Formats: sequence, structure tokens, C-alpha cells
Amino acid sequence: MNQPQIILLGPPGAGKGTQSTRLAEEYDVDHVTTGDALRANRDVETDHGTPREYMEAGELVPDPVVNEIVVEALADADGFVLDGYPRNLDQAEFLADIVDLDTVASLSVPEDELVRRLTGRRICPDCDATYHVEFAPPAEAGSCDDCGAELTQRDDDTEDTVRERLRVYEENTAPVVDHYRETGKLTEVDGDGTPDEVFTALRETVEA
Ligand code: AP5
Ligand code: MG
Ligand code: ZN
Repeated sequence: MNQPQIILLGPPGAGKGTQSTRLAEEYDVDHVTTGDALRANRDVETDHGTPREYMEAGELVPDPVVNEIVVEALADADGFVLDGYPRNLDQAEFLADIVDLDTVASLSVPEDELVRRLTGRRICPDCDATYHVEFAPPAEAGSCDDCGAELTQRDDDTEDTVRERLRVYEENTAPVVDHYRETGKLTEVDGDGTPDEVFTALRETVEA
């Protein structure tokens, strides 16, 4: 059997990264995340400026920049979990021309919980591990379990930028979720449980 081709949709803080990492391990497929790819290249000059200016404001990075990342990442992937893409209808159309999707899952989480998750998130600048001060704390406060580096906050995890990211999601990405619902491809998964509960529901969706 070919490896599964999965996209995981959901608002900022829904747990896309947390769950995509697990799915990629479970099914031995690539975890393709436009957010991480853009953060790794945030100061690279493009025809549209640097990714950093858009990301720090909570706005979408222009489609040509993001589409190129996705084309390259999917070119040699034998199965994938795509996290953070597509984020608008044009990206969804672009994607439809290059892959056949097996699973489109969307995580739903109430807005006040999203804000709590994002403002409490801590990340490892060295190995990209993700923590939460309350929900997923490291063994030793402030340092990474995996590599010992000092944990930091993402530049866009301030309360104001989080609100703007949620607004941008409603305006641009909620229509993508509607689009997959209308075409009968979408499975909505309750993202407001423990990480284990959400993972179990996602696995059932992929294997359905
Ligand atoms: P991106 O990096 O994709 O950010 P996002 O969509 O805002 O989502 P997050 O990564 O913040 O949240 P997540 O759903 O991955 O949650 P996580 O698992 O970390 O994009 C950032 C920016 O890049 C965009 O604003 C844009 O500028 C640009 N960009 C990216 N893709 C683009 C595209 N396609 N087009 C244009 N621009 C693009 O979890 C969050 C926290 O909650 C963590 O602390 C975690 O430990 C905790 N947590 C997770 N699950 C649970 C749970 N079940 N219970 C309790 N806590 C939990
Ligand atoms: Mg993420
Ligand atoms: Zn680390």
C-alpha cells in the first residue's frame, strides 16, 4: 500500500504540530510544515520581502513563496502529513493539482483554549521540540528535555499577534475547511481533549 497522504487543518494552537509529529512517526511519512520551513528561512529575501515581516504580524506569507516550499517538500515524499497548508482557497487549488489526498482532518478547539495554548507554548530553539508551561511542561522548568537548550517563546505567540492570527484564520482558512466539507472529504476531529485522545481520534480517521 502507498503511504498515506494526509492534511491536518485547524486554527493556530489547535495542535497541528503536536499531532502531525505523532502521525508522521506512526505511519512513517514526512511531516511537512510550512510554518517551520518559513521560520527556518525567515530572513531570506524573496520577491515579496522576508517571511519574518508577515509572520511577526500574524499575516499569511505570499502564496508563491509558500507554494514553492510545498512543491519541493512533496516531490520526494512517500506519504506525508501536511501541517499549516493549504491556508487559503488558492493554495487548496494549487495543492489539488499536485497530489491526491487520502485524509483531510480538521481539529476544532474553542477560542479561549487556543489562546491559552499559544501564550503558554515554549519551544526549543535548537531541536524544535514543543512544550507548554502548564499542559506539557519539561522535566526541568525552562530547559529542553531532549537537548537541554534554554526554551524560548515564538515571536508570534504574544496575545495581540495570536488574536490577529485567529482573525486571519477565520478570514482565509475557515473557507478552506468549508470547501473540503462541501466536497465530502473532510473529517472533523475534536481537538479539545488530551493529546492522546486527539491522536486516537486522528488514527481512526486515517484508518477509516
Ligand atoms: P504555523 O507555524 O503553521 O502556525 P499556526 O497555524 O498559527 O499554528 P501553530 O503552530 O501556532 O499551532 P499548532 O496547531 O501547530 O499547535 P501546537 O501543536 O504547537 O504558521 C506560522 C506563520 O507562518 C503564519 O502565521 C504565517 O505567517 C506563516 N505561514 C505558515 N504556513 C503558511 C501558509 N500555508 N501560507 C501562508 N503563510 C503561512 O500546540 C500549541 C500548544 O498547545 C503547545 O504548547 C502544545 O504543547 C499545546 N497542546 C497541543 N495539543 C494539546 C492538547 N491536546 N491539550 C493541551 N495542550 C496542547
Ligand atoms: Mg504548528
Ligand atoms: Zn531541544
